Amino acid sequence: MAIRQFLDIGSGLPTQKNVHEAAQSVAPGSRTVYVDNDPSVLPHAQALIQGDPQTVYIEADARDYPAVLRHPETARMLDFTKPIAVLLVALVHFIDDSDDPYGVVAGYVDQLCPGSYVILAHVTSDDIDPELGERMFGLNSQLRVPLTYRTKDEAARFFDGLELVGPGVIDLGRWSPDGEVDGPKRKLNSWCGVARKV
Ligand SMILES: C[S@@+](CC[C@H](N)C(=O)[O-])C[C@H]1O[C@@H](n2cnc3c(N)ncnc32)[C@H](O)[C@@H]1O
Repeated sequence: MAIRQFLDIGSGLPTQKNVHEAAQSVAPGSRTVYVDNDPSVLPHAQALIQGDPQTVYIEADARDYPAVLRHPETARMLDFTKPIAVLLVALVHFIDDSDDPYGVVAGYVDQLCPGSYVILAHVTSDDIDPELGERMFGLNSQLRVPLTYRTKDEAARFFDGLELVGPGVIDLGRWSPDGEVDGPKRKLNSWCGVARKV
C-alpha cells in the first residue's frame, strides 16, 4: 500500500523540499506531522506550513514517544491502522545510551501497522579521517546536546525486527532505492537505512 502519512521526528529547521512538500508533490493528499524539541524551530515551521491543513508541527521531546504518539495533533492527523513512514533522520545520535535510544525507536515502531516504513540516519566515526575525528570529538563537548557516535552494527540494531529495503544500512550519501551509489566523495559519515514493518 502506498504511503500517504509521514511522521518526521527531529525535523529541524525547514529548508527546501521539506517532507510534506516532497510527499504532496507526488501524492497531494499526503499528511505530515513534524516533531522537534527546539523552540527556535517552531516559528519557522509554522510559517512554512501556514494554510496547509494536511501538515502540522508539534513541539515535543522525541524520547517521550508516548507523548508524541498520544499528542492530539498526531491523533488527528495520522491513522495508525494505515501505513506510516517514520523519519528519524539525524536524530537518534542526540539520544544518549542512558535514555534508551533502542527502546525509544521501538516505542514508535510498535505502534505502526505492517507496510509502514522507518527511515533512519545516524552519525558515525567508523573509518573516519583521524584529523576530522579529532575536530568532531573536540566540537562535540561544546554542543548543547553532545552526539553519540555509533558503529554500523549499532546503527543497524535500530532496524531489528524490520525488513531492510534497498541497499541496506550504508553511508547516507550512497543510499538509493536502486542500490548503492558509488564514489568515495559521497561519504557523509552517517549510516542510514530504510526498513519496512512486516
Ligand atoms: C541534525 S537536525 C536534523 C534535521 C532533519 N531531520 C534533517 O535531517 O535535516 C536534528 C534535529 O533533531 C532535533 N532534536 C534533537 N534531540 C531531540 C529530541 N530529544 N526531541 C526532538 N527533537 C530533537 C534538533 O532540535 C534538530 O532540529
